[in-house]
Amino acid sequence: AASDPGLVERARKAKEALGDRLFVLGHHYQRDEVIQFADVTGDSFKLAQQAAARPGAEYIVFCGVHFMAESADILTGDAQKVILPDLAAGCSMADMATFDQVEEAWEILEDAGIADSVVPVTYMNSSADIKAFCGRHGGTVCTSSNAKRALEWAFEQGEKVLFLPDQHLGRNTAVLEMGLSLEDCLVYNPHRPPSAEELRRAKIILWKGHCSVHGRFTADSVDDVRRRIPGVNVLVHPECKHEVVLKADHVGSTEYIIKKLAEAPAGSKWAVGTELNLVKRLGQMFPDKSVSFLDKTVCYCSTMNRIDLPHLVWALESLVLGEVVNQITVDADTTHWAKVALDRMLALP
Ligand code: 13P
Ligand code: SF4
Repeated sequence: AASDPGLVERARKAKEALGDRLFVLGHHYQRDEVIQFADVTGDSFKLAQQAAARPGAEYIVFCGVHFMAESADILTGDAQKVILPDLAAGCSMADMATFDQVEEAWEILEDAGIADSVVPVTYMNSSADIKAFCGRHGGTVCTSSNAKRALEWAFEQGEKVLFLPDQHLGRNTAVLEMGLSLEDCLVYNPHRPPSAEELRRAKIILWKGHCSVHGRFTADSVDDVRRRIPGVNVLVHPECKHEVVLKADHVGSTEYIIKKLAEAPAGSKWAVGTELNLVKRLGQMFPDKSVSFLDKTVCYCSTMNRIDLPHLVWALESLVLGEVVNQITVDADTTHWAKVALDRMLALP
């Protein structure tokens, strides 16, 4: 499909026919064949900001995954319709924390007598009802580009934080950016919850979730690349395990990774630990620098990749015909509380 000129032409024509009624957002992990049609590309934070930036656009076609499209629906008005070109584009990390599990965890915190001092913070990569849970309980949302500020804010509101659902982003931010110790962090396994005593001792309770793509980079991946490419700079996403981030030279969101490469001197060597579509694109964007994938055994994010050109063309041509397919809608109550949490994030200094 990547090189199918017929489909490229059909997408171009449909976009042209829809004009300003259409706004296409694309996450950095999207395929090249899709990203070429995005009006704005970005990391999760930038895309959340951008979702509300075109109130005049009737249709927001979100080239990303389900939780991102939900957030766009929450942050936009009723007149705007958010479309996800393939409904199967979910996120395995977001699926690791269900609403029922989180409610049960909160009851356990109540029974331990500490719920009043716990502020819930959820990573953007979570379902709308988890964001709403955080809104209802005085918490907020964060992305990989503002996790430190969100945690600082949360620790001003309460003594402890419940961080959902990515244990790695939570641990990396708490330990490497906020000066907490590994002993301050407690992993919360919803299938085998910790004891009340353990919960009382913890400063930050990390939900036992992870990204199935970033979780596959290992400390050995970093050692190997340093052996193979002398002088290489290792740049990773904070969804990587703590031991990987500890061994890396730089860590940050996808937008940060792009910025870092853009600023790097010509001839410098980089090994990047994030999703493969983005790493390949970095190589094309910066041909004067050497860009390698941190570990060749790690592959694409399979759900991000579900949004391909045939699905995009189908969604756009349906809109041209007046049919809205794959609309993502969040109910009014969930929208209200999730927006409370998202607005707290967007208002962080
Ligand atoms: P960012 O683009 O915010 O760094 O998010 C990475 C990610 O895994 C999105 O699913
Ligand atoms: Fe989810 Fe990881 Fe894919 Fe991002 S890269 S959508 S966190 S599975």
